[in-house]
Amino acid sequence: MEYSHRSRLLLVCSVLVLCLVTQGARCDELTSDFYDWSCPGVYDVVQQQVFAAMREEPRMGASLLRLHFHDCFVNGCDGSILLDGADGEKFALPNQNSVRGYEVIDAIKADLENMCPGVVSCADIVALAAGYGVLFSGGPYYDVLLGRRDGLKANQSGADNGLPSPFEPISSIVQKFTDVGLDTKDVVVLSGAHTIGRARCVLFSDRLTSTKSSADPTLDATMAANLQKLCTGGDGNQTAALDVSSADVFDKQYYHNLLSKKGLLTSDQGLFSADEDVVASTTKALVQTYSDDGEQFFSDFGASMVKMGSIPLPAGSAGEIRCNCRVPNKK
Ligand code: HEM
Ligand SMILES: *[C@@H]1O[C@H](CO)[C@@H](O)[C@H](O)[C@H]1NC(C)=O
Ligand SMILES: *[C@@H]1O[C@H](CO)[C@@H](O)[C@H](O)[C@H]1NC(C)=O
Repeated sequence: MEYSHRSRLLLVCSVLVLCLVTQGARCDELTSDFYDWSCPGVYDVVQQQVFAAMREEPRMGASLLRLHFHDCFVNGCDGSILLDGADGEKFALPNQNSVRGYEVIDAIKADLENMCPGVVSCADIVALAAGYGVLFSGGPYYDVLLGRRDGLKANQSGADNGLPSPFEPISSIVQKFTDVGLDTKDVVVLSGAHTIGRARCVLFSDRLTSTKSSADPTLDATMAANLQKLCTGGDGNQTAALDVSSADVFDKQYYHNLLSKKGLLTSDQGLFSADEDVVASTTKALVQTYSDDGEQFFSDFGASMVKMGSIPLPAGSAGEIRCNCRVPNKK
């Protein structure tokens, strides 16, 4: 016990020295033990807050997962989506009246500022909260890597242009993933996040219509009728489960739904039903694999989350540890 404690201390010291010596290369590698010395309670705090929020509302697990995705795709995983202010990312089209969970992050940050002030970045809180959101929904455990720094400003146009839309073709969604260092497989694996959570009618009602000629032929007719009932006459804010068969459970059912035309968004069903080309045959084969093999899905999902969680800040941006997740620190 005593021995291993001392050798770990030695290791931490030498890592610090190494960073000082090699100042050119910044010490920005993410690690799973980043706060083991500076704030070992971080796991308990995030876990308790996410658990409490999901007991109130199970959907919050999904919302926190999406928050992390929308953070990482714009200027890297830097907590920039959390920044308030008129030109914030949270007011970009894909986020406004859509992304949820900001209050949960605030509550976690408040606890952590009491426990170890100025230590844990908002971006790391979001990454960890997403991990527990997946886990408490019944999904896989994966080691969340930590050590991110918070960005100094938001990038609203980056959010408008960089985040995928459910209305665009799969090939163009793949391009957006490629732009941040992810690939076609990551698109299929991470779309499996839609095994939990909800989407608003405005985002899929173009697939519905009473006139059979223009209804989406890749949407199951009974499911279409039910969605039509839900969406008709509302303001577009009514929500349907992204996974019609197990809305709040993180499982492989999302892929199984796609085999029977029960994906909710055009971009979900397109992974299985798009016209054959190179990309479509790749995504279709992967959908088939994951609909069969939940263990493969779980382990690939963890790996792709770690990959997505490692999208870096733009070159030259050093970041900071924000004190309040909604505003940059005063200089
Ligand atoms: C592949 C491209 C993707 C598209 C086009 C897409 C699109 C969408 C849309 C339109 C919604 C509903 C938003 C609303 O109702 O306002 C949604 C919800 C959601 N998305 Fe995605 N998404 C994609 C990928 C991802 C990824 C990579 C993740 C996470 C790893 C993710 C996680 C979620 C979750 C969990 C929800 C439900 C959120 C909640 O209920 O609060 N999505 N997505
Ligand atoms: C905003 O995001 C876009 C697209 O991701 C990127 O090209 C641009 O450099 C970013 N702008 C700033 C100021 O970071
Ligand atoms: C949906 O709700 C938001 C926020 O409550 C509101 O601003 C918006 O107008 C609603 N959407 C429609 C189509 O009415």
